[in-house]
Amino acid sequence: MTLEEKLGQLQQLDGEANGNFRPEHLELVRKGLLGSTLNVRGAQRTNQLQRVAMTESRLKIPVLFGFDVIHGYRTIFPIPLAEASSWDPSLAERSAAVAAQEANNVGLRWTFAPMVDIARDPRWGRITEGAGEDPYLGAAFARARVRGFQGTDYSAADKVLACAKHWVAYGAAEGGRDYNTTDLSENTLREIYFPPFKAAVDAGVGTLMSSFNAINGVPATANAFTLTKVLRDEWKFDGFVVSDYTSVKELINHGFAANEEEAAAAALNAGVDMEMVSRSYNAFGPQLLKQNKLSTATINEAVRRILRIKFRLGLFERPYTDEAAEPNSLLRPESIRLAREIAGRSMVLLKNERDVLPLDKNVGSIAVIGPLADDRRAPLGWWAGDGKEENTVTPLAGIKGKVSAQTKVVYAKGCDVKDESTAGFQEAINLAKQSDVALVFVGELAEMVGEAASRSSLDLPGRQLELVQAIHATGKPTIVVLVNGRPLTIGWIVNNVPAILESWMGGSQSGNAIADILFGDVNPSGKLPVTFPRAVGQVPMYYNYMNTGRPPEAENRYTSKYLDVPWSPLFPFGYGLSYTRFKISNPQLSAQRIETNGKLTVSVEVENAGRRVGDEVVQLYIRDPVATMTRPVKELKGFQRVTLQPGEKRRVEFVLGHEHLGFWNREMRYVVEPGEFRVMVGSNSADVIETKFEVAAKQ
Ligand code: BGC
Repeated sequence: MTLEEKLGQLQQLDGEANGNFRPEHLELVRKGLLGSTLNVRGAQRTNQLQRVAMTESRLKIPVLFGFDVIHGYRTIFPIPLAEASSWDPSLAERSAAVAAQEANNVGLRWTFAPMVDIARDPRWGRITEGAGEDPYLGAAFARARVRGFQGTDYSAADKVLACAKHWVAYGAAEGGRDYNTTDLSENTLREIYFPPFKAAVDAGVGTLMSSFNAINGVPATANAFTLTKVLRDEWKFDGFVVSDYTSVKELINHGFAANEEEAAAAALNAGVDMEMVSRSYNAFGPQLLKQNKLSTATINEAVRRILRIKFRLGLFERPYTDEAAEPNSLLRPESIRLAREIAGRSMVLLKNERDVLPLDKNVGSIAVIGPLADDRRAPLGWWAGDGKEENTVTPLAGIKGKVSAQTKVVYAKGCDVKDESTAGFQEAINLAKQSDVALVFVGELAEMVGEAASRSSLDLPGRQLELVQAIHATGKPTIVVLVNGRPLTIGWIVNNVPAILESWMGGSQSGNAIADILFGDVNPSGKLPVTFPRAVGQVPMYYNYMNTGRPPEAENRYTSKYLDVPWSPLFPFGYGLSYTRFKISNPQLSAQRIETNGKLTVSVEVENAGRRVGDEVVQLYIRDPVATMTRPVKELKGFQRVTLQPGEKRRVEFVLGHEHLGFWNREMRYVVEPGEFRVMVGSNSADVIETKFEVAAKQ
């Protein structure tokens, strides 16, 4: 390969928004100067560009086509935060597999997913794209999504190459402001932010994307510690790293590089192999080489990593996509069924006083109210692939399709999500008054979550809370369904409205899934993968915090809390109700004492004490109460979803061992320290039963 051809493999360029390649791409590909594109899609278009690579370029190296297929390509699944609420990684694996199949059929071979950033700050809009605040749950979903996208062999015709992003600590952006700085100890990086990436690497993920943020003063796109020491030397990752969108050039704005030339050297030398959109590598590679600021070995290594993945992907054997297959590959009936099933399992019942829910399908009349009751865009969320609004089942449609022929369903929007007009309130109030029950759909628009969608308030935007209050004031039984992509501060609703369903942004089948739950065909079983604060001022707020020297005490002013809001969250991590009731009891340990490298089994009895079949997600937490470094008050170390018939009882077992009990100590070694360990098992992070055991030094 000539130097230019090598650098060409390191370049990724953006197509047009509609999926077309740009005219210059043809020429660049012909000359071997473009290794990959993003956003170019559609079998015909990718084939057209690929044909140039395969027949007109000197080396015939196929182009790698990437796209953000985050939670579905055309069949849109719930946003990843919602899927994580299922606490069932196998569902995420299945949805990723459908997304891969659809994407592959439109010529795509690479998705910029899974997004595995831990997010402890709901102001950050991209919390919607990940699995929430916990590294253990996050790792489980990272693994599952990689498996779903890639399968065991991503050269298969229904798989795509995955990309774990954004490496790393992007979710810790200061103040929840997207693209912002992070400053974190290495311990926190290793214990909180790294684990989902490690899980993705262990699951065979082919690529990683470097993030926009700086970490402890060094931008992630030029960070040799994360990109080379951890990723390559420690984890033995042999795929390639792509930068984020122009993040190489942005090293200049960071004040880390004086110009593009320095930016290129910094990123490539640190271990970013492919440059997305900016063109610093190509523009300055040759002169950097001449000046010895970049070595041939470094360039060769980056090229080798990219080609290795292109080979593994089978791109050389199967560079083209079957254009005839495309139309039949999207929105298959089984994909739509799966989207509905997963959405139903992703929704979280937050409140259900006096069993207001489920509703009777024969109820006389229902007022369906709110700006999100019949909105086709919001349920698709951010990064909705090539999902189409015309394929969205709205809540209104889902409800109409569910109730009996006699039930009267009336609808009023009431207000918009964003603007300040209350002109529609009266109509909504009138309809509520005429009906037996009012269902109010409020939340966020898709554009209010995702990238560059940080919010300083977690309240319902616009006049939506007032709409809920006005409907509630009619005295009709009022049920609130939230359509949103991040935790919201909904204290008034929680204190006043008898039933609340968190439907998240549930994808194409959202409306059907909501109706399945509201009318009892599906028993809700989702659990929050993220803490809901009472007030935005409590943020960052997460369950696995450190105890501090003055843990909060109600009667003691001089403890760690606020004057104006209780210190506890509105809803804790892991929380979610069911239409049935579960009892968790009788914890047993297989041993009272193990050695630091030992294992033990923890088991509890779970009973369905209600009258409906249902699923409980049993959660296991540990605490290392005394250690050479302060440790969290709780850490999730196991979870299991169990389906129980009414009256059924089952013993659920968890294994705890070295990989669960240790931490990164001051010497940056992973250690299990002898001493007492507490084990907590329960239905959420705040409602647990506790037992303990002893870890003894290895003899
Ligand atoms: C986002 C990435 C995404 C990329 C390509 C960036 O702005 O941060 O998550 O993969 O664009 O669309």
